[in-house]
Amino acid sequence: MIPTIEWQGQHVRMVDQRKLPSKVEWYICRGYKDVINAIEKMVIRGAPAIGVAAAMGLALGARSIRAKTVPDFTARFKEIGEEMFHARPTAVNLRWAIERMIGLVEKMSDHPADAIKTSLRQESEKILAEDIQINRKMGMNGQGLIPEGATILTHCNAGSLATGGYGTALGVIRAAHERGKKIQVIADETRPWLQGLRLTAFELMEDGIPVSVIADNAAGSLMRQKRIDLVITGADRIAANGDVANKIGTYQVAVLAKTHKIPFYVAAPLSTIDPTVKNGDLIPVEQRGPEEICRFGKLQVGPPGVMALNPAFDITPCKYVSAIITEKGVIKPPFRTGIKNQLGDSYSP
Ligand code: MRU
Repeated sequence: MIPTIEWQGQHVRMVDQRKLPSKVEWYICRGYKDVINAIEKMVIRGAPAIGVAAAMGLALGARSIRAKTVPDFTARFKEIGEEMFHARPTAVNLRWAIERMIGLVEKMSDHPADAIKTSLRQESEKILAEDIQINRKMGMNGQGLIPEGATILTHCNAGSLATGGYGTALGVIRAAHERGKKIQVIADETRPWLQGLRLTAFELMEDGIPVSVIADNAAGSLMRQKRIDLVITGADRIAANGDVANKIGTYQVAVLAKTHKIPFYVAAPLSTIDPTVKNGDLIPVEQRGPEEICRFGKLQVGPPGVMALNPAFDITPCKYVSAIITEKGVIKPPFRTGIKNQLGDSYSP
C-alpha cells in the first residue's frame, strides 16, 4: 500500500488523496502552513492520518522558529499549534496530536531549542509508527467479531489511507482476511467526496479482498434482503458516553442496521475518544461548502446558484452501536464504564 504520509529528508510528503485512484501524486509540505492547507483541502483526511499530519506539521513549524529563548520558542510553538487546531474541527486526533507535541516541548523546557526541534521530529515519527501498531492491535481485537463468510458493509474510508497505515475499520477487515476468513465487503460510495468508491475500493482491491461499491442510498434495501451480516466503520470522535461522530451518512446506516438486527461496530484508537465531551451533541460538526454537493468533479451539475447543506459528519447515538473496538480490546455497552476503564489515567472529563 502507498504510504499515507512520511518524512522525506527535510520535508513531509503525503499522497494527494483527492487524486486517487486515477493518479498517485505526492503533495510536498515544506512548512507547517502547507500541512494546514493539506488538512483543510482534503489532501490528507481520516482522523488518525490528520493527527499524524498535525504532529509532522508542528515539527516543521518548530524548525522555522527563530526565538532567542526557550520560553519564546515555546510561546511561538503554541501559536502554531493554535493555527493547526483550526484546520478541521471534528476529528479529535488533531487536538490529541497537538497536545502531545506541546506536552513534549513543556517537558523539555530546560533543553536548548535545537534539541527540542530534533525531539519533535522524532516524536512525530513515533506517532506514525505507533498508529500503525495500534491499528494492527485493533485488527487482532476486532477480527473475532467477523464470522467466516461474512458480508460487511463499511462507510467512508477507514483504511490505510485514513491512518498511518493498515486502517481502523479496514484494519479489522484485513485482519479477518489475513486469518483466511472468506469475507466480502460492500463499500458505500460516500458522497460527496467518494471516499468509499475512490479509496476503500482501491485499498481492498489491492489486498485482494472482494469488494462491491454501492450508492449510499442502497444500503437499506440490501439489509432488508439479508445481504449484509455486519457493519463496521471508523470514527472521528467518540464522546464519553460512546456517541460516535463519523462521516455523514453513518447515522442512517446505524439506524438501519438496528432495525434489521445487524451488528454495528466502530473501530477507533483511544486517541479518537474525547472524554471531555459528555455526549455527541457537544461534538463540533464540520460544515463544508455547497459546491461539493452541486458539482461532480469540476462539472456543475445542479442549477447554478442552488443552495445546499453540506455537513461533513454526523452523530450516531451510542444506542445504535453494538461495540467499539480499540487497541485495548472490545468495549460493549454500557460504553461510559468501558471507555473509562480503557482510558485509565488519561480519562479526564
Ligand atoms: O472527511 P474525511 O474523509 O476526513 O472523513 C473520514 C471519516 O469519517 C473516517 O471514517 C474517520 O476519520 C475514521 S478513519 C480511520
